[in-house]
Parts: sequence; C-alpha cells; structure tokens
Amino acid sequence: MSALAGRRVVVSAGPTFEDLDPVRFLGNRSSGKMGFAVASAAAARGADVVLVAGPVHLPTPPNVTRIDVRSAAQMHAAVTAALPCDVYIGAAAVADYTPVSISPNKLKKQPGQDTLTLQLVRTRDILAEVASHPKRPRLVVGFAAETHDVETYARGKLVAKKLDLIAANRVGVEGSGFESDENTLVAYDANGATTLGPGAKSDIAGGLLDLIEARLA
Ligand code: C5P
Repeated sequence: MSALAGRRVVVSAGPTFEDLDPVRFLGNRSSGKMGFAVASAAAARGADVVLVAGPVHLPTPPNVTRIDVRSAAQMHAAVTAALPCDVYIGAAAVADYTPVSISPNKLKKQPGQDTLTLQLVRTRDILAEVASHPKRPRLVVGFAAETHDVETYARGKLVAKKLDLIAANRVGVEGSGFESDENTLVAYDANGATTLGPGAKSDIAGGLLDLIEARLA
C-alpha cells in the first residue's frame, strides 16, 4: 500500500492574477499542469487531496477536492484554511508583488503621460508561512522555477523557507517548464539531489511522490 494512502495532501497550482482594475491584471505563464499532475498522482495513490488552483484551464483530476482562487491573497487564505495536513506541496507560481490598491474604475490613458508607474507591495510567502506554521505539515515541498543558477537558488530557498524538499526546474528552455507537457526537475533536500525526467509531467509527478513517500514511511 502507498505511504500516501489516507494522508491529507494539499497542493497549490497555477498562476495568480493580481488585479489592477476591473479589466487588467498582473499574471504569469504558469499553466498549472505540474501541480495538477501531482494532485492527480497523489489521489491515485489513495491520498485525500485538496487542490488550491489559480486561474487555469484544466479539468479537475478524479477524486480531488478543488478550490479555485485568483489572487495570491486568496491562495494564502485557502491554503491556510486547508491546514492541518500531512503534506503541503506548493507548486503554484504565486505573485511576489501585488498592486497597492485596485482601481474601482478602468485606468485611463492620461494625455501627455508617456510612462505609467505602478506601485506594488510584497505578497505573503505562503510556502514559508506553511513551513513555519504551528500546524506545520509533516512534509513541506516547494518548487523553484529559475532561469539560471538553479541549484544555488533552489538550495537557498530550501534553507530560507525551511522546506523538506524543493523541486527545481529551468524555465526559459524550449519544451520544458511553463505550458509544456514535459519537464525535468531536480529535487534537492538537505543531503542530496535527485533528477526526475526528462519526461511527461505525469511521470515526473510520480517520481516526486516516490521521494515524498520514502520520507513518510
Ligand atoms: O521564492 P520563489 O517565489 O521562487 O519560491 C518558489 C516557491 O515558493 C514555490 O513553491 C511557490 O509556490 C512558493 N511561493 C509561495 N508564496 C509566494 C511566493 C512563492 O508559496 N508569495
């Protein structure tokens, strides 16, 4: 039997959209496919899965409880409300900054104004907060999408955010990462590194869950 059977697993996936006004937002290129693949694979192994999804165009995997959110603040609230759990997997591409305020009316071009400066404020780091929460899950797993110096940044986040495991991938590479069905991840923990893939995101998700199961057993 899988070590995940009967465990409560919370997964966050997809981008967040930070509204500027009723028609515009700041978003990112996360498709949500990796997080949905992890949620799907965990449910197939018998876990009780809550999937907190940003705005994505993906069907809900079988036997997964899905909570749709839009902004980083909504994702923070939904993830926090889903605690306690055994495993938290933060696969979402959460906005680091959000507009200081949302204009109630559509922002209009100003005559003679050639530049526009947006004032943004830091969002809360959901993953770091979950890892330091009084109801900390037994395992907290993060993702790191990097364009360069992947290992250095990933290991930095593993320590700074107090994670058990971090799955890093290079983005900006053709045929991998955002929007793709294929991926290559390197999972780092305090002791070493395991390469997962290249392969289908469903297979990579299975490999990541194997690493999680080994730590739950
Ligand atoms: O620091 P960085 O944003 O690259 O870290 C990525 C990891 O942190 C991902 O697992 C992401 O889901 C999580 N994160 C978060 N809340 C934020 C920013 C990132 O949970 N505000």
